[in-house]
Amino acid sequence: MTQTLLVTGASGHFGRLVLDELLKSDTIEPGAIVAATRDVSKLADYAARGVQVRAADFDDPGTLVAAFAGVDRLLLISTDAMGVPGRRLAQHKAAVAAAQAAGVKHIVYTSLPEPEVSAVSFAPDHLGTEEAIAASGIAHTILRNSWYMENLFMGLPHALETGKWFTAAGGGKIAYAARADEAAAAAHALAGEGQESAIHTIAGPEAVSVDEVAAMVREITGKPLEVVHVDEEQLAAGMKAGGVPDFMIPVIVSFDRAARQGHLGITSDALERLSGREPMHLKAFLAANREALGG
Ligand SMILES: NC(=O)c1ccc[n+]([C@@H]2O[C@H](COP(=O)([O-])OP(=O)(O)OC[C@H]3O[C@@H](n4cnc5c(N)ncnc54)[C@H](OP(=O)(O)O)[C@@H]3O)[C@@H](O)[C@H]2O)c1
Repeated sequence: MTQTLLVTGASGHFGRLVLDELLKSDTIEPGAIVAATRDVSKLADYAARGVQVRAADFDDPGTLVAAFAGVDRLLLISTDAMGVPGRRLAQHKAAVAAAQAAGVKHIVYTSLPEPEVSAVSFAPDHLGTEEAIAASGIAHTILRNSWYMENLFMGLPHALETGKWFTAAGGGKIAYAARADEAAAAAHALAGEGQESAIHTIAGPEAVSVDEVAAMVREITGKPLEVVHVDEEQLAAGMKAGGVPDFMIPVIVSFDRAARQGHLGITSDALERLSGREPMHLKAFLAANREALGG
């Protein structure tokens, strides 16, 4: 049976990786894939490969009715709207309501680990979205995606430049996974035919502390990197002095709190089970991206 599969936010990093994974399949026709995005011009390369590209903006629910028409299974990629409290949850709820109106049979959603208890400041957006999906009555697969290995590019190059990595995560561990591996799991969950609902933690096979990551980075780059353990107030003050935008400071502090409290350290084999591929290990990822780290 040919199913029509839709990916929202398809022009983002994750969305493109999902499209690439779907297009690798021998059993999925490009024309059965719908790539929905705010700016269709960004996906001209996928349209040229036969993918249906449709305009969809969660801030403009009127666009979603046409975008979701005829779709069987939909991957709802969480948006990046973190600047205005409540906006992201409202966006996701608009998408779920439109999926319901369009008769979508299955929703796959990119959540985060343990949203019920996670200290991550935007965990309530994910929990609220999971609840809205459950309340819609649509069958669903919730992918509680652990931190991307790529997140390390945000702070590590600067830390390597200064030789110091400030953290309030203590010995807390994170079960990083490569973004492409998480996207592959999402593509397979989307393309599956199961109608049963499930929740999976999508994470790497190992969880590592900041000290352990720093040791890998020192070995790979040959550069000095001292981990400086600070408390949350000291971390926030350092970010303020470094020019990090005010609204991002509590968000980043909450990441370290969540790591310290163990909410980002859950390992799982669901990524491998769903995607059928062995997840990349962090050390191999860091070695492959040595230049991006400034190493
Ligand atoms: N697990 C992690 O470590 C981690 C790290 C970073 C982000 N994330 C989450 O995962 C998502 C995908 O990650 P990414 O790396 O692909 O981020 P990204 O490249 O920054 O993509 C941002 C995403 O938000 C979508 N978006 C923004 N406003 C939207 C709107 N009004 N309506 C519909 N979609 C909207 C974009 O879609 P279009 O531009 O195509 O419309 C795009 O898919 C992020 O948005 C964030 O929620 C997770």
